[in-house]
Amino acid sequence: MRVLVTGGAGYIGSHTLLELMAQGHEVCVYDSYVNANPKVLDRVRSLSNGKLGDVTGDVRDAAGLDAVFSDFEPEAVIHFAGLKAVGESEERPLAYYDVNVGGTLTLLHAMDRAGCRKIIFSSSATVYGEPVYLPYDEAHPTAPLSVYGRTKLMAEQILADWSKQAGDRAAVLLRYFNPVGAHHSGEIGEDPSDIPNNLVPYIAQVAIGKRPALQVFGTDYDTPDGTGLRDYIHVVDLARAHVAALGYAAGNAGCQPFNIGTGQSVSVRQMVAAFERACGAPIPTRTAPRRAGDIAAMQADPSRAKAAFGWRAEHSLDEMMASTWRWQSQNPDGYGNG
Ligand code: NAD
Ligand code: UD1
Repeated sequence: MRVLVTGGAGYIGSHTLLELMAQGHEVCVYDSYVNANPKVLDRVRSLSNGKLGDVTGDVRDAAGLDAVFSDFEPEAVIHFAGLKAVGESEERPLAYYDVNVGGTLTLLHAMDRAGCRKIIFSSSATVYGEPVYLPYDEAHPTAPLSVYGRTKLMAEQILADWSKQAGDRAAVLLRYFNPVGAHHSGEIGEDPSDIPNNLVPYIAQVAIGKRPALQVFGTDYDTPDGTGLRDYIHVVDLARAHVAALGYAAGNAGCQPFNIGTGQSVSVRQMVAAFERACGAPIPTRTAPRRAGDIAAMQADPSRAKAAFGWRAEHSLDEMMASTWRWQSQNPDGYGNG
């Protein structure tokens, strides 16, 4: 298929480009580079057959989108473009509604003008909010705890209503759990532009000597070792979920959510131990108070994605950490020196 990938230069997008190209899809990236380095596309080209289109543009720019729809004529869109920092979303709520909700609306209008009817959307497990039960299945109530989470839920609702119109429109909502890890080559990975908000990039920066110690946010949760539990998923497994979901969207109409996680949960302390195995050195830690807005535990029931499009996670925790360390140690400054 011809697939337009908004936000394709970002962390998850760049890994997905490689999986799409490996499966023979024709791919064009549409990205504003607000949170990405254009050098990533050179790396993607050198790791693949190199046939990758790219257009610089903003998802809120209708004319820019019309031009790429007219030139590339995509049959489907994978929509990664968005803002993703939970803390920042509380400080700049309108920016988050503008890009994540407004950008999705502008994109759907452009798709309708071009007759493109298939979309895979980057949603998040954060739409569920405080667990009523675990593991979360897709029928779990949605009650996001942050502006960021609400923008994702609103975009999901818009996509659901869009897909109900006449025609064979399909919107696949992928609710990601915690993406971590990097491509096995160590050539592409997560490159935070600021102090990392998320656990694994932070540990990686401690391991490389950029930060003195990891703060463990909360050691008094009702979990086996007192630290938070999350369902971490290797970014390559996550990328492959998009390729599988494309096949599903091609053959189906309507809007469906799918959890994309492993079904396992791992504590902060277990994550630190796994990273120490990968890098062969101790990771200094300090205990710190709970982070505002954090919940004790999250875990996916990923069985629906397996039943609908045959996808399941295959990489182990040690592979997540080994690939993160390979990326971080080969690129201590991310794409900055690449
Ligand atoms: P990222 O920031 O690395 O990638 C997002 C990409 O979108 C970047 O390349 C950025 O330059 C681009 N972009 C942002 N605003 C844009 C705009 N207005 N127009 C065009 N391009 C724009 O983030 P990521 O981790 O790869 O996440 C991709 C998507 O997955 C996001 O929508 C995010 O909300 C969602 N998601 C991420 C996580 C996670 O933990 N990484 C978890 C759940 C959901
Ligand atoms: C965070 C977001 C969530 C988003 C997800 C994307 C918040 C409140 N939640 O979730 O909305 O979907 O990222 O992956 O920001 N931790 C530490 N020290 C650190 C960093 C994290 O102890 O320096 C702990 C956290 O308390 C948590 C675990 O590590 O228990 C994972 O944290 P993180 O990687 O930020 O992911 P989430 O909290 O799941």
